[in-house]
Amino acid sequence: MEILQQRSTTAQVWQAAEEFIRLFHRENAGAGDPRARLAAVRAELADTGTYVHTPAELVHGARVAWRNSNRCIGRLYWNSLRVRDRRGLTDADAIAAECFDHLREATNGGRVRPTITVFAPETPDRPGPVIWSEQLVRYAGYGDHPSITVGDARNAPLTEALLQLGWSGGAGTPFDLLPLVVQGVDDKPRWFDTPADAVLEVPIDHPDGDGWADWGLRWHAVPAISNMCLEIGGIHYPAAPFNGWYMGTEIGARNLADTDRYNLLPAVARRLGLDTSSDRSLWKDRALVELNRAVLHSFDRAGVTIADHHSESRRFLSHMEREERKGREVGADWSWIVPPISGSATPVFHRTYEDRPSNTAYVHHSGARERAQGRDLV
Ligand code: ARG
Repeated sequence: MEILQQRSTTAQVWQAAEEFIRLFHRENAGAGDPRARLAAVRAELADTGTYVHTPAELVHGARVAWRNSNRCIGRLYWNSLRVRDRRGLTDADAIAAECFDHLREATNGGRVRPTITVFAPETPDRPGPVIWSEQLVRYAGYGDHPSITVGDARNAPLTEALLQLGWSGGAGTPFDLLPLVVQGVDDKPRWFDTPADAVLEVPIDHPDGDGWADWGLRWHAVPAISNMCLEIGGIHYPAAPFNGWYMGTEIGARNLADTDRYNLLPAVARRLGLDTSSDRSLWKDRALVELNRAVLHSFDRAGVTIADHHSESRRFLSHMEREERKGREVGADWSWIVPPISGSATPVFHRTYEDRPSNTAYVHHSGARERAQGRDLV
């Protein structure tokens, strides 16, 4: 993970650009011989210090960046990513409005569509816009320590930053939607209330009932990462929110279960009447399974796309086979690919992977948000 964001030299940009343009022409039969395009890019770079992707290059680049995401188990459908080209936008208010439209289109009434919106790139004379929020949809965390926080402790620093920016706070429930924080080019960060119609949420119930519905647990339908920089052939797009659909364990085994997030396993165990006096009763393990059943059941009942870790693991192995048949090596990070519960019951557990770096990728940068707050939140 990068700590310091460094401007690349023209030579570095050229090297990455050449590699990407060659790949684009290799993988898109209709694009023909790359020589003319390479010469044009080289001239544009010499002239302006940067170059502009064609719409087709942008689409392919965003998809290949997904294909190269070593931590993502859901890459089988990389080539169907929908790309919204909004490279003309540099101002916070226009960007926020497009982010909300992104959510509406990606949500698609529950049939979630993998989508990315690409805003203005960084150029030699100015930084690009950035979205401070880690995802387009985040729940507030009130309090400065996980054990006393109401809501999602992961978002306590963002909540605090919002309050400092003048947001007056939400209702104080565990699931208050945070406004989106966007910093336009040459501007200060600004916040925008998330319109209710842009966010689909799923109330969490359990297939066996038992009063879970009255508990008030919920999660949002679309995970849209908004603080990673899309890098394509040497060009940086720091504001490029993208989403796939959820895999149940992300919510049931991490967001709602981690001790520094919602920490719900003790409450689930109490509800199930489990003996929590000893680790060896495996109450945490049993609570995890029931919480994950509840998440999958609730999304299914609400008609919202969600994957389970068994099918998604099999799909990932099909992805690897398909890529290898095409002569491409698949990079992967075992510690991210293996699901956080029942790892050994899925086929992705029983093998190793190469963690391959790539020039066309989604990357964490230490950007304007961290500089402004004087701390690294990523
Ligand atoms: N793990 C993150 C979350 O729980 C989302 C990361 C991206 N996940 C995805 N299925 N595309 O919100």
